[in-house]
Amino acid sequence: MPGRRPSPAGLWWPRHDAVHGPARLASPAPAVCSRWRQRPQKNVAGGVTACKRPRTGAAPAVPAASLAPGATQAPPSGRWARLWARVRGDSLVRVLWLGRPLRRRLVLAVLASAVATGCGIALLGTSGFLLARASQHPNILAIAIAVVAVRGLSVGRGVFRYVERLASHDAAFRILADIRVATFGRLERLAPAGLRTLRPGDMLARLVSDVDATQDLFLRGVAPPAAAILAGTGAVIACLLILPPAGAALAVGLLAAGTLVPWLAAARARQAGLRLAPARGEFTAHFTDLMSGAADLHAYGAVDAAASRAAGAGTRLAGMERRAASGMGLGTGLSSAAAGLTVWAVLGLAVAATGTGALTRVPLAVVTLTALAAFEAVTALPTAAIQLGQARASAARLTAIADTPDPVGDPAAPLPLPAGPVRVRLRGAQVRYEPGGPLALDGVDLDLAPGKRVALVGPSGAGKSTVAAVLLRFCDLSGGAATLNGHDLAAYATDDIRTLIGGCAQDPHIFNTTIAGNIRLARPAATHEQLAAAAERAGLLPWIESLPQGWDTPVGAHGTAISGGQRQRLALARALLAGPPLMILDEPTAHLDPDSRHALTTDILTATQGHTTLLITHDLDGLDQVDEIIALDHGQVAARGTHAELLRDGGLYRQMWLSAHPPG
Ligand SMILES: Nc1ncnc2c1ncn2[C@@H]1O[C@H](COP(=O)(O)OP(=O)(O)OP(=O)(O)O)[C@@H](O)[C@H]1O
Ligand SMILES: [Mg+2]
Repeated sequence: MPGRRPSPAGLWWPRHDAVHGPARLASPAPAVCSRWRQRPQKNVAGGVTACKRPRTGAAPAVPAASLAPGATQAPPSGRWARLWARVRGDSLVRVLWLGRPLRRRLVLAVLASAVATGCGIALLGTSGFLLARASQHPNILAIAIAVVAVRGLSVGRGVFRYVERLASHDAAFRILADIRVATFGRLERLAPAGLRTLRPGDMLARLVSDVDATQDLFLRGVAPPAAAILAGTGAVIACLLILPPAGAALAVGLLAAGTLVPWLAAARARQAGLRLAPARGEFTAHFTDLMSGAADLHAYGAVDAAASRAAGAGTRLAGMERRAASGMGLGTGLSSAAAGLTVWAVLGLAVAATGTGALTRVPLAVVTLTALAAFEAVTALPTAAIQLGQARASAARLTAIADTPDPVGDPAAPLPLPAGPVRVRLRGAQVRYEPGGPLALDGVDLDLAPGKRVALVGPSGAGKSTVAAVLLRFCDLSGGAATLNGHDLAAYATDDIRTLIGGCAQDPHIFNTTIAGNIRLARPAATHEQLAAAAERAGLLPWIESLPQGWDTPVGAHGTAISGGQRQRLALARALLAGPPLMILDEPTAHLDPDSRHALTTDILTATQGHTTLLITHDLDGLDQVDEIIALDHGQVAARGTHAELLRDGGLYRQMWLSAHPPG
């Protein structure tokens, strides 16, 4: 798809200006990433959500080649080309590359930083001149320019420092927002099949801490070193003009403090810097596991073991932070030592020159204080070097997400969605989750004609949810065909497919918001009447209206403040509000007592009358109302027909029915 890069580097980031419109400002609410729904294009506040990826063929995020450092269709040939490709494939360079659209702001930050540092150096040098000259009791006119210069430089220093901070932070935060949106978009695209190996806490750490860490790249990795070179060179030239040996000593001191010291500090903190981001991810993962699984851990007396695992991860993280801090301490100490030694050397040389008459007392003060102030340019560099190491590790974790291949591919030129009724078919469908693994589906045929209701039943692990995953394009077929109105399902954009096919997942997520908020996320623009109609069809309306807070009743995290049956009905109401042309309901009656199951099944069958529906269920009561029942076993169709036919024919369905309704 044009919005993504087919590159070895594979980084997929949106073009800066593509996300800096109003669309970027809306926070990507978790709600919009619910797997089974019609995708809302607007969030509750009315802003466009980040979850709505650019449709295939519609305005893409960015031309592939323009974003791919080192992106080439063929492997580069030649030593330099390979080296260049490696540099551009480096995670840090790839993140840095994102700053291109803001290069003017970054250049402004560098120049303002250099001028501010230069003002600081000149301020001290001029002050030295002023004090030394004033001690000679000259005519006031002789020092008038210096007095004005001191005032000008002190004001200029503050103004330029402000400009530098404004420009660099503005650029860094804009890029940060882009990276976060792009990372979120990528995670959304990979969910659910592509995220199996990532723990939720680790994912959160990448989205929050690792994205935050990349700001150091722009705040400390770009402006300070460039400004140090400019301002340091200026100070050295000034000292060389006054006293060449002092200028040379300052050059050596600045070079040592600006290169050797950061290198030593970074070397001390390197291991910690590389491991800090993964350690933070590990700690967050343990901590979120501990919190989200607290009830089960308590129930099985496993709290202590889980808490000690989290504490161990916390100790490892603290150890690495200590080591990184010790590197910063080393850098600061060595930097001060280099500054002190250099200033003493410059002072010694200047005093010696004064003794020989080569220098008078006034330039002595100027050259010494200039040398002292020049170190302001390099003091931040050791910390910057360490933070760059950490930013590199974070950038690698982010680009790893960007490079994870899509579990389900989008076609280069997707077909437009059909306008009329939707007919979905599976023919000989096969699914294998792992290469060489067992077939989760093996030769399944399914016909979902407009208005037809099909029930999919079978024992646990038979492949029922896998059928739903195929239709929703969460996984690709390993064999056979899946078609929508006669065309391959894979020929449509996945986002488009999910506007036609949706419903209610086996474990629907209930968000920690109000009843209305949970239902409305399927269609943020729905009116209250539409909301109430969906709730009524799901059998929720009398209950909602009986609540003191009504629609505004909070449901708690994961819906813990309402009952299991109410949660299921809430998810059903959400699916009914979305009203996709083909509705898939995966075990909507799970976890309910027999009476509630029966009542909910009755409500579902009433609500879906005349609507193309695939009902996946273990509950056989009421299935005499659906057009076809397919019994799956070990991924294969064991029986198909109506309720009466299947009971008459015997086989798996009859066995299931008899075990739920024993004779007598
Ligand atoms: N993401 C996955 N990765 C690997 N194997 C999977 C994955 N999802 C399902 N499977 C396997 O595929 C088979 C079919 O699983 P599926 O979830 O479709 O069963 P099901 O009929 O929906 O079961 P249940 O009634 O318990 O929900 C099972 O053997 C399961 O272990
Ligand atoms: Mg299932």
